[in-house]
Amino acid sequence: MFVKLKTKKRLKQILILEVISIVFCISILAKQGTSNNNGYIANMELNYQETELSKSMKRGEEIYIDFCIQCHLGDGKGTPKVFPPLAGSDWLVNKRKESIHSIKYGLNGPIKVNGVTYNSAMTPLGLENEEVAHVMNYIMNSWGNKQEKIVTLEEVTSVKK
Ligand code: HEC
Repeated sequence: MFVKLKTKKRLKQILILEVISIVFCISILAKQGTSNNNGYIANMELNYQETELSKSMKRGEEIYIDFCIQCHLGDGKGTPKVFPPLAGSDWLVNKRKESIHSIKYGLNGPIKVNGVTYNSAMTPLGLENEEVAHVMNYIMNSWGNKQEKIVTLEEVTSVKK
């Protein structure tokens, strides 16, 4: 009887120790989760991209005012059936490469933007590749437009005639 009681007590002690060690392990694992290095680096990259993007957009806005605003207008809405919109343009979102191409080399012939056909011409605007990247970043992230990936000089340079 006495022996039985003793082993019961011992078992209880072991159980308590086990619970304590499990709680300890979990707390260490949880700590590792919050100081996760990958998350930290991803955040840094996000901040870096945000500042790169906002810098590029600022320069893009100046280029837009000088070269684009007379047709596509300040609100990016263009003129129905004459100058297509950039604000909310499905063409701009779905045809990223063609958009870069059109700013670099001009565009003519029929295109459909948000279901409306335009059959006009945009002459080449004589911008440097870097300026094309900036103005692309501006028009793709203004008036409610939003793109995940920043347009780089390399991307613009890779679009050939
Ligand atoms: C002289 C007027 C004019 C100017 C200036 C102009 N565009 Fe255009 N843009 C047009 C026309 C017209 C079209 C449609 C061409 C067609 O019908 O093939 C067009 C089409 C586009 C398109 C593709 C269609 C869309 O709406 O998404 C983009 C992108 C674009 N322009 C961006 C620009 C940018 C950026 C600038 C300035 C760097 C600029 N445009 C300057 C007249 C102009």
